Amino acid sequence: MNEKEQLENVRDWVREKLINERTGHDWLHISRVVNLSVYIAKEEGADLFVTEAAALVHDLIDAKLDESERLTAGEVTERLAAFNIAEGPIQEIADIITRMSFRHRKLLKKRPLSLEGKVVQDADMLDAIGAAGIGRAFMFAGAKGHPMYGTPTSVLAHIEDKLITLKDLMNTKTGADLAEERHQFLLQFVARIQKEAVDKS
Ligand code: ADP
Ligand code: NI
Repeated sequence: MNEKEQLENVRDWVREKLINERTGHDWLHISRVVNLSVYIAKEEGADLFVTEAAALVHDLIDAKLDESERLTAGEVTERLAAFNIAEGPIQEIADIITRMSFRHRKLLKKRPLSLEGKVVQDADMLDAIGAAGIGRAFMFAGAKGHPMYGTPTSVLAHIEDKLITLKDLMNTKTGADLAEERHQFLLQFVARIQKEAVDKS
C-alpha cells in the first residue's frame, strides 16, 4: 500500500466512525481540519503524510466523545499498523494526538509538539473560531441543552471566555494569519448578538 492508499483507508475508517458524532467532533469537523492542516503544512514545510494522518485521527481519543465512539491511543496505533503505516510515522502521529489537546497546553512548554503537531493544533483551533467555530459552539450547546446567552455555560460566555483567546495561541505564522480574519468575525458576532439580544434582556 502506498501512502495515498494508506490515507484513503484511514479516511474511510474515521468517516464511518464519526459520521454520527454530535458534539462538534463530527466528520465534517475532521474534514475541515484535514483541509486546513494540509494547507498550513504546505506553507510551513511540514511532512504532509504525518500531518494529514494525524489530522484525520486527532479526535478519536477525545474524552468528550461518546464511549461508543472513543478509542484508546493503543487502539488507534494498532489500526494504523493494520493499514501498513510504518512504526516511525505511527509514533509521530501518536505523540501528536495524545498531547495536542487544549487541556495539555501547559505541558507542551516543556516538550513542544513537532512541527506537524503544531500545524494540526493550529488547524483544530482555527475550526473553533470564525463561522464554523460559532456553528460548532451552537451544536455543542444544543447537544448539552445550554442557552445562547445569559449564563456562564452559554454559547456567548464560551465565545467570550475561550474562543476569543485562541488567535493568540497559534503556533505557526500561517495559522496566525488565518486566525486574524476569523477572530474579527467572532468579535463582530459578539457585538451583533449583544446589540440584538443581550442588551435588550
Ligand atoms: P478540542 O477539540 O480543542 O478539545 P473541545 O473538545 O473543548 O475542543 O470543543 C469542541 C468544540 O465544542 C469546539 O468547537 C468548542 O468551541 C465547542 N465547545 C466546547 N465547550 C463548549 C461550551 N461550553 N459551549 C459551547 N461550545 C463549546
Ligand atoms: Ni478537533
